[in-house]
Amino acid sequence: MENILSPSILSADFSCLSDEIKKVENGGAKYLHIDVMDGLFVPNITFGPPLIKSIRKTTDMFFDVHLMINNPDNLLEDFESAGADLITVHQESCIHLHRTIQKIKSFGLKAGIALNPATPVSTLSDIIEDIDLVLLMSVNPGFGGQSLIGNVKNKFTDLKELMYKKNISKDIEIDGGVNLNNLEDVLSWGANVIVAGSAIYGAENVELRTKEFIKIMQGQ
Ligand code: DX5
Ligand code: ZN
Repeated sequence: MENILSPSILSADFSCLSDEIKKVENGGAKYLHIDVMDGLFVPNITFGPPLIKSIRKTTDMFFDVHLMINNPDNLLEDFESAGADLITVHQESCIHLHRTIQKIKSFGLKAGIALNPATPVSTLSDIIEDIDLVLLMSVNPGFGGQSLIGNVKNKFTDLKELMYKKNISKDIEIDGGVNLNNLEDVLSWGANVIVAGSAIYGAENVELRTKEFIKIMQGQ
């Protein structure tokens, strides 16, 4: 699996979002992690399809949309037409997860499932074949700038075991608290899609920091 950096715009300056996006794009990032929060599933509110539609006009980056919202089904089409490339929903927020995943795929998009820190990997055993990516949350979702919860390491072991048993291989994304100091560790656990918000947008030179991440991810 190719290692992919997905900078999260949650920690970007929203007053000049297209410039902020250009910085990570110029640094070599191919994915853009877009955190959608509804104030219900998580204790914070961000933005929705209209903002995604606006930034879609400014870049060709791959839009990695992370939905932290309750019952996303009725909004999926709006995210698709706004320009999402991958939609990741939370296992905990979907009553009929199989239906939700099929709906995302019916639009021709990639589909992912996110697990909160306390949700076991075993909850994916009857759906993992249907998806493209598993997102393991390494913080409780809602805010950028938190510290990585070390126990998530065990879930990588469980996930790789589940994939091995089923003879499948899917992208594994890690989200929350990743920085230059723990990047090599999370790569060694098996994560290949790396989300980083504050560690990238908190840097003085965002473009350079993006390059530093990518350099480590390419093993150079
Ligand atoms: C948290 C979001 C993350 C967030 C990560 O709920 O899902 O994507 O932007 O931010 P950092 O990298 O600062 O932990
Ligand atoms: Zn996220």
